[in-house]
Amino acid sequence: MRLIIREDYDEVSEFVANYIKERIRQFEPTSERPFVLGLPTGSSPIGVYKRLVSLCKSGKLSFQNVVTFNMDEYVGLPRDHPESYHSFMWEHLFMHVDIKPENVHILDGNAPDLDEECKKFETEIARVGGIELFLSGIGPDGHIAFNEPGSSLTSRTRVKTLAYETIIANSRFFDGDVAKVPKLALTVGVATVMDAREVLVIITGAHKAIALAKCIEEGVNHMWTVSAIQMHPKGLIVCDEDATLELHVKTVKYFKSIEHVHQSLIGSENLSLQGGVKQLKNIISSTNNRPTTPME
Ligand code: GLP
Repeated sequence: MRLIIREDYDEVSEFVANYIKERIRQFEPTSERPFVLGLPTGSSPIGVYKRLVSLCKSGKLSFQNVVTFNMDEYVGLPRDHPESYHSFMWEHLFMHVDIKPENVHILDGNAPDLDEECKKFETEIARVGGIELFLSGIGPDGHIAFNEPGSSLTSRTRVKTLAYETIIANSRFFDGDVAKVPKLALTVGVATVMDAREVLVIITGAHKAIALAKCIEEGVNHMWTVSAIQMHPKGLIVCDEDATLELHVKTVKYFKSIEHVHQSLIGSENLSLQGGVKQLKNIISSTNNRPTTPME
């Protein structure tokens, strides 16, 4: 797993947006072989979405051959409600990029049969060949999507009851009124996220520092569902300095030193790449012929 530490939210957003752009570009997606991207909502990805929109507007990125799957959606909230995740995604990203509407997949929290809706979602992910890159945020209690503490780490897309802490945290979007926050959601499972070929988690702010420490310095634990990323062959966490407050100084220095070595090998302009060794070798030999080291 890699941990990339940036100064603040803006630098994190810049890194992640550039990373996604590069991954899509290198993949060279076509309509027969699209790039399949998993996406979150929440405040964490807003800066990334803003930058992805700019990259599209300046012609550096296209969503023409990108298929998306969103992580979750509230149950019972009308699709056009300003706080539905449908509204969020269209407002912050889809409306401003060249994505084909039929390539957007967001769970329908008003489906007549919610279990069936969840099954269909998993089937659709499998049909397009699985998710290439799953972008995620976390809640302060370390949940990914709506996989609250205690969720099975082998869970799949399903209906979930929200934890009271999450309801309180999300009441900021519902006039601070806990009663207005839906109590149920549809969410991808921990295993749905971890099945992606790559997982990228954004963690910013001091209020998420304990969750980051639990995720990185302790074992895989269903009480901090993001910790499942430890088992992923290609996991990447991008955090800001504030989120590192509960980490040991030794841990922070360790991950910074790894990034430093990585940067000295491939050059800062290529830092967002997390390619295979072959791809790294190409970059290195085309720059300075220095030997490569295996990826962490
Ligand atoms: C909700 C979403 C999560 C998101 C979390 C954190 O619970 N279901 O997917 O990661 O909020 O949101 P924020 O990024 O606003 O802190």
